[in-house]
Amino acid sequence: MTTLVVGASGYLGSEVAARAGRDVVGTRSADLDITDRAAVLALVSAVRPRVVVNCAYRNDSWAVCADGAAHVALAAAAVGARLVHVSTDALHGGRPTPYGDAEPPTPVHMYGAAKAAAETAVTAIDPSAVLVRTSLIVDGDGRSKQIALCRDMIEGRIPGGALFADEYRCPVDVGDLAAAVLELAASDVAGTLNVAGPEPVSRVRLGELVAARWGLDPARIPVDTVAARGLHRPADVRLDASRAAGLLATPLRPVSEILARPLT
Ligand SMILES: NC(=O)c1ccc[n+]([C@@H]2O[C@H](COP(=O)([O-])OP(=O)(O)OC[C@H]3O[C@@H](n4cnc5c(N)ncnc54)[C@H](OP(=O)(O)O)[C@@H]3O)[C@@H](O)[C@H]2O)c1
Repeated sequence: MTTLVVGASGYLGSEVAARAGRDVVGTRSADLDITDRAAVLALVSAVRPRVVVNCAYRNDSWAVCADGAAHVALAAAAVGARLVHVSTDALHGGRPTPYGDAEPPTPVHMYGAAKAAAETAVTAIDPSAVLVRTSLIVDGDGRSKQIALCRDMIEGRIPGGALFADEYRCPVDVGDLAAAVLELAASDVAGTLNVAGPEPVSRVRLGELVAARWGLDPARIPVDTVAARGLHRPADVRLDASRAAGLLATPLRPVSEILARPLT
């Protein structure tokens, strides 16, 4: 049973591909540009996968996040493949209460809007697809862009930058998420599903956990708030992932457990 991982050179995609067993085909953007509809259909028709996992993304590209997701969904549907589409919490606008699985997007920036458009397209093309809404992806080794950002802030590599005390997310471990994605690929779960960690933390708290793990001084965390800077970005976005936690055998561990020990 071939699994096709689109975006297999990326952070999540490489983890999914590594866990997908022997019969896996992974693509980089150099192999397959998902903005090219005909190329996507040609590759998927040649591979004839049973499962397609779309992890491809570029933060600043509507063509990749929205059009590309539709092209992948069309091609997967053409060969009758099970589709797992990776989505994001960033399609929500932010509010003080957690978001349920099926809440309609309220994007406030282009990336969120593109991911929202992708969800609409994917669902219209294949209502049986599962759309995994996830949050900050982290790990205990420091490969995560989110962890790197915290370390760069604490070590003063981003002049004027800050971690925000009012910006909340539900970080998830990259291995937990990859295992959950593959478990969902083998299921018949359909529609949007929050797959995130159970512990909401502010960016500042995430910075404190990172400081403790990598032996950095937490007093050097540059702290500010989204509100004080008047930034147009979603601040408080907590995903209620209790349905996923009940459906999945894969545990979705809290971030304070993922980053628990100081690294020696
Ligand atoms: N990272 C997070 O904290 C986070 C949080 C929430 C949601 N997500 C979602 O999780 C998914 C994976 O994110 P990630 O952090 O693993 O991303 P990533 O590390 O930046 O990887 C992105 C992947 O997409 C590929 N790609 C880029 N442009 C492409 C194109 N035109 N055609 C085909 N492939 C293309 C890249 O290939 P090349 O490297 O070969 O160019 C790479 O394999 C995305 O859907 C994202 O929205 C991520």
